[in-house]
This record gives sequence, structure tokens and C-alpha cells, in this order.
Amino acid sequence: MSDLKNFHVSLVKKVDDSYDIVIGSRLFDKLAEDIRVLPYKFANIAVITDSNVYELYTKSFEKTLKNAVPDKNVNTIVIPAGEKSKVRSTKEYIEDKMISLGYRRDTLIIAFGGGVVTDIAGFTAGTFARGVPFINYATTLLSAADASIGGKTAVDTDAATNLIGLIYQPKRVYIDISTWKTLPEREISGGLAETVKHACMRDAEFFEYLEKNIERVFSLDEDVCRRIAEKNCAIKYNVVMIDENEKGMREILNLGHTVGRAIETVSRYRLSHGEAVSIGLCAQMRLGNERGYCTQSDIERVEKLLTRAKLPTRIPEYIDREELVRKLYTDKKVRAGKLRFVFQKGIGDMVKFSNGDDEASAVYSDFVSEASARSIISKL
Ligand SMILES: NC(=O)c1ccc[n+]([C@@H]2O[C@H](COP(=O)([O-])OP(=O)(O)OC[C@H]3O[C@@H](n4cnc5c(N)ncnc54)[C@H](O)[C@@H]3O)[C@@H](O)[C@H]2O)c1
Ligand SMILES: [Zn+2]
Repeated sequence: MSDLKNFHVSLVKKVDDSYDIVIGSRLFDKLAEDIRVLPYKFANIAVITDSNVYELYTKSFEKTLKNAVPDKNVNTIVIPAGEKSKVRSTKEYIEDKMISLGYRRDTLIIAFGGGVVTDIAGFTAGTFARGVPFINYATTLLSAADASIGGKTAVDTDAATNLIGLIYQPKRVYIDISTWKTLPEREISGGLAETVKHACMRDAEFFEYLEKNIERVFSLDEDVCRRIAEKNCAIKYNVVMIDENEKGMREILNLGHTVGRAIETVSRYRLSHGEAVSIGLCAQMRLGNERGYCTQSDIERVEKLLTRAKLPTRIPEYIDREELVRKLYTDKKVRAGKLRFVFQKGIGDMVKFSNGDDEASAVYSDFVSEASARSIISKL
């Protein structure tokens, strides 16, 4: 023992991960301009996109980019559209492409597309050459509302979605609301489910704004789309900033997602994530109503708004409710037969169960027994 040496490696880090989110219409030129003055050295740019977005936008974006930075080596890597692509083998495919192009550390990645693209491209950026900078150019309402902000990147595995990944922040985010015009209606609705979630969680005034204007999102009214993009960013940013290190408070972002994720799986993905979250929001409110956290009229308002957003508020007939309860209560998060839920308080606030040492570590979830969940689910 006497020749034992102990070197203490002191690595207390202070990092500045700040970044800008640019919201507007047709931001190709803006991004191409900004790239010229980015404070990083890079010779190569990999634009990662999916097959749908490539045809619609990325082809023309690539031209703009090549004109703006003729001295850089710009290449676009296209992955097949859809969640099925968000897997490790696609990440490997992207990496192999970049390697074969001679790309090394001096690379910038631009994720150009929806949440699938920003999740996988962000993860690739985080590990390629031990981490290269990346920029998100979000083209769906869902990625604008949720996926492109917060720094969570991941791929799915058979065992679970988003199981393998990193927290890795983008250097900038661009939200181009003009690209929403080509989104299928179901995708707009999906983004609106997360938007309604944000309003229920943090902002009663925004909820009222949605009540006045929700149809104008479908007609792509520019002011309304812009306001929605801005509000979603502000609300998510505010939560992520307070609880940057996931001490606890960030769990409020799970509003509607406990039941939502389980329904999504049990529906074998017939329901989209947003549709499942919409039903999950209704389930959470009914449980909350039994506990006195929200009123019957709050439930009616939220359900009416979700319906106008073309989202379901009831569990479809084809879903086996018993399977759903089983799915919920065999989750790894179940303790002593109980599962944690977060609840909205009225509309625009969350129920806090205890104060932590600081705002970030306050507890917003409480246990729900299997019997309570079954009783709500059987009636929904
Ligand atoms: N990282 C996070 O914090 C976070 C948060 C929420 C969701 N997500 C992830 O985001 C993904 C879902 O995001 P999504 O709904 O954007 O999925 P997506 O990227 O698959 O896009 C949905 C569909 O729309 C198409 N599309 C994209 N932009 C288009 C446009 N402008 N016009 C026409 N079609 C367009 C895509 O090709 C795809 O078919 C999931 O994988 C989810 O796990 C991540
Ligand atoms: Zn979600």
C-alpha cells in the first residue's frame, strides 16, 4: 500500500452554452450570412436533413449556403424521413459519410428538418471528433415548440425511445415558420398539443390567446404562428434555464406525457406523439380534478381547445384500457405500485408538492395509485 499514489484531477467546469434562437420567415439568407461570422474555425459543413425536407427546402438551402461560403466544403447528407431513422445505424451512416468526405474536427453540422433530424444530428455532432458545433434549422411546429431547444439529443432503441444520447447544446437555432405551410395538418396538430401543454403549464394569458386564435394556425397566419413560436420558446427556455441540471423542476415538462407516452406505445404508434399527449393532458386533468387541482370548467376549456386543434381528447376504442394500465404500472418508474404524475393547477400553473433547496429542486410530482389511474382510464 505504501507505493500507492493518488492524483486528484480537479475539473470544476464553468461553461457558457448560451445561444440565440432566431424566429422568422425564410431564414436561409440570414443563416448563410451568420455562418460567415461564426466564432469557430471550420472548413467543412455537413447539412443533415431527411428525404421529405430535402426535396422541399434543403436543396435550395444548399445552393444559398454554397454561394454564401464558397470557401467551405458543403455537403448534404439525407436520411429517410420518419422516426424509424432515429436509430444508431443511421447515426453510423451519417458518420461514415462525413468520414469518407474527409471531415474531421473542423466541421460544422447543420440539422435541417424536424425533431428526428435535430435529435440525431445533434447527437452525431456531440460525438463526432469528440464534439463539433451544430446549428438547428427547425422546419416543424413540434421541433420549434420542443425538440430544437433544450439540448437533448438522442436515438431510439427497441427497448425505449431516446435511450441513447447526450445533452449537447446547439450554437444557434433557427425557426422558420414559412416552412410550416407544407406541413401535413396532423403535424400542425401535433405541435399544437405541446403548445397547449406549455400554456396549461405556465401561461394563462397565452392559453386565452390560443382560445382566440387557434384556427389561424391552420390558415398559417404569420403573426399567430410567430407568436406561437415565440411563446413556446420562452416557456420551454424558462423551465430549462431554471433547472438546467435536471434537479427536478424540469419534470413539469412531462405534463400529459405519463399517460401520453404509454398510449402512444399501446396504440402501436397509430396515434402520433401529439395526439397521445393530448389524451394524456385530459387524463391528468381528470386525476387532478379528483384531487381538487382543477375544476370541471377548466377541463372543458382545455378539451374544447384541443378539439379545435384537431386533437383527440378520449382514448380510442381500439386501445385495450387494461393493457394501458399494465403498461403504465410496469414502467421502471413505478415504486410500491405507485407512479408519479405532474398536475396542472387550474390553467397556467403547476401544482407544487414541496419546496426544494432552490427553485430548480422543488418537487412537482406526486404518486398515483394503480386503482386511481384505472378508474380514470376506464372512463376516458
Ligand atoms: N430533443 C427534445 O427535447 C425533443 C422534444 C420533443 C420531441 N423530440 C423528438 O422529435 C421527434 C418528432 O419531431 P417531428 O414531429 O418534428 O418529427 P419529424 O422530424 O419526423 O417530422 C415529421 C414529418 O414531417 C416532415 N417534415 C418536416 N418538416 C416539414 C415541412 N416543413 N414540410 C413538410 N413536411 C415536413 C418530416 O419529413 C416527417 O415526415 C421525435 O423523434 C421526438 O422524440 C425531441
Ligand atoms: Zn412531447
